[in-house]
Amino acid sequence: MSFLIFISGEQVNKILDMQTCIQLMRETLSALSRGEAIQVLRTAMKLEGRNVLGVMPSALLAKNIVGTKVITIAPDNSYKGLPSHQGVVIVFEAETGSLKAIVEGETVTAIRTAAVSAVATDILSRKDANSLAILGTGVQARMHVEAILQVRDIEQVYAWDRRLESAVKFSKEMSEKFDISIVPCSTSEEAVKHADIICTVTAAKEPVLFGSHVKKGTHINAVGSCTPDCRELDTELIKVCKLYTDRMESAIHEAGDYLIPLREGAIDEQHIMGEIGDILVGRISGRQDPEEITVFEALGLAVEDLAAADFVINQVEQREKSR
Ligand SMILES: NC(=O)c1ccc[n+]([C@@H]2O[C@H](COP(=O)([O-])OP(=O)(O)OC[C@H]3O[C@@H](n4cnc5c(N)ncnc54)[C@H](O)[C@@H]3O)[C@@H](O)[C@H]2O)c1
Repeated sequence: MSFLIFISGEQVNKILDMQTCIQLMRETLSALSRGEAIQVLRTAMKLEGRNVLGVMPSALLAKNIVGTKVITIAPDNSYKGLPSHQGVVIVFEAETGSLKAIVEGETVTAIRTAAVSAVATDILSRKDANSLAILGTGVQARMHVEAILQVRDIEQVYAWDRRLESAVKFSKEMSEKFDISIVPCSTSEEAVKHADIICTVTAAKEPVLFGSHVKKGTHINAVGSCTPDCRELDTELIKVCKLYTDRMESAIHEAGDYLIPLREGAIDEQHIMGEIGDILVGRISGRQDPEEITVFEALGLAVEDLAAADFVINQVEQREKSR
């Protein structure tokens, strides 16, 4: 492409529906496990307070693409009515190095993260799971309701946020959008105690989900707070669960949910069973017993952004050509 093309979040939303993205993430995580992608650790440059500038490079050589997401994370933005994640995904052709396009990153991040959780839920949760708890009621919470509904027949949703009014607003909005019963809860215990699937999507520093509140057989997607000193899950829960992740290298450098119990001596370095891509390609097993508690620790990978952005770019190009 000889001219610079910028693809807006609105275009991403129109092109990248959740079902398509779930399939794309399934393929991408499988490709990563087969060694067909280059994925390095993100650089997270700390700014004032808890703000971060993240640079996330990766390549998918079979697709001839290389690129990087550049994203700012400002966790307190929800108080200002601004998105907490803002950025772009820059995509090049790997062979020539030519720029393909720049894609708005906030929307890509929102959709691909929830789609990855749906992939993990599909392979790790019980087939008969029909209730969902969402802890945190921001952007990811909204996307996760949509994503989990794609992979399990959910009949009841529970929502908790540190601000009850936010959980109430979320429940009203999402129950109307998806025609499903959502109960706003004033404690996280109330939200999770009957849930078969739990998604933690908060910016918490300290645990919001406790082992003593989680019933046997539950699957958990731990998505928020992806830094070594912050966590959403307590030590007791990590100790008893079967723990999976998106990328081992990321987990051992970035996941407070794993690193804090490790530092406490509550678990050892063998505690992570493996990557969900390894389950997808049949290298390791997932859930073995209906009573097990499984946790998917999602750090978020550049290769997910690259694959999602490239899909959108190709769709835009095809639509332009057929005009
Ligand atoms: N793993 C990944 O791939 C990935 C991708 C995107 C976002 N995230 C993380 O997921 C989290 C949610 O992202 P988002 O885009 O929905 O953000 P958001 O700002 O839209 O929502 C954050 C939510 O967390 C709640 N929250 C904030 N601090 C809290 C605390 N101390 N205790 C309990 N709840 C708290 C807020 O009330 C809000 O409901 C963030 O931590 C973000 O960095 C992870």
